[in-house]
Amino acid sequence: MKERAIGVFDSGLGGLTVVRELLAALPGEDIVYFGDTGRVPYGSRSREALEEYARQDQRFLLSQDVKLVIAACGTVSSVVPYVGEELPVPFLGVVSPAADAAVQATRNGKIGVIGTIATIASKAYGRELLKRSPGLTISERACPLFVPLVEAGWFGESDEVALLTARRYLEGLKEEGVDTLILGCTHYPILTGVIRRVMGEEPVLINTGKTAAAAAGALLREKGLLNPRAAGGRCRYFVSDRTEDFARLAGVFLSRPVDEVQRVDITAY
Ligand code: DGL
Repeated sequence: MKERAIGVFDSGLGGLTVVRELLAALPGEDIVYFGDTGRVPYGSRSREALEEYARQDQRFLLSQDVKLVIAACGTVSSVVPYVGEELPVPFLGVVSPAADAAVQATRNGKIGVIGTIATIASKAYGRELLKRSPGLTISERACPLFVPLVEAGWFGESDEVALLTARRYLEGLKEEGVDTLILGCTHYPILTGVIRRVMGEEPVLINTGKTAAAAAGALLREKGLLNPRAAGGRCRYFVSDRTEDFARLAGVFLSRPVDEVQRVDITAY
C-alpha cells in the first residue's frame, strides 16, 4: 500500500500547485495527476455536473491504484465534498487545510476569500473559518476570469491583462483591510506575483496548494502510508483533451520537464 501513488485531480492546471509542493516535501512519492482540461472551468458548473465530474475523476484515479485522493480543486472541495467520502481510500479536499492556516495567520481578524463562482456561492470557506473562530470578519469575492487566464498561460507577474483583471477583482478587498487572503481556487497561486502586486506586501496569501500538500503529508504519516523511499518518485499526468498545451504550461509552472502526459476518455469512468 505504501508504494502506491498519490492521486491528485483538478479541472486543469490548478492542481499542479498541490503537485509542486508534494514534489518538494515528499520526493519519494509517486504521483498520478488528472487535469480535466476538456471540461475546464469547473467554477461555473452546477452541483449535478460537478458531482458527475468529480466521481469520474476519482474513479479514474482509483483505476490507477492510488493510496490517497486529493481533490486539488476548491470548487469540488467546496460544492461536492461528500463525493470524496464515497471512496475506499483516504480523501482530502483543500478547504479545511486552508481555513486552518488562515485562522493561524490573521492578526486583525479580517480574512478575504477569493474563488470561483461556485466556490464563493457555496460559502464553504466562510463556514469552515467561522467554525474555528466565530468572531472573524470574512469578505468573499468570485474571480472567474483568473482560471482562463492561467489556462491560457497569461500568469506572468507583468502580464497586463492579468494585472488589470486582478485590480478589478481585488481592490475592494484591499480597501477593506484584510490581512489574510485565501487563494481559494488552486489555480490562483499560479497568479501569486500578480495578486501580490495588487494587494501589496502586507496580507498573508494562503496558498491552497501548499496547505493541502502539507495536510496530505500529515495524513499519510498518521495512517502509516508514507512511501519509505526518500527520493526518485515518478509523476504521471493525464488530461481529458489535448496534451501539448498542458505539458508546456505544466513544465513552465513546475520548472521541470513534463513529458509523461497521456489523454484519457474520462467519460468512460
Ligand atoms: N482549480 C479549481 C478550483 O480550485 C477549478 C477552477 C475551475 O475550473 O473553474 O476551484
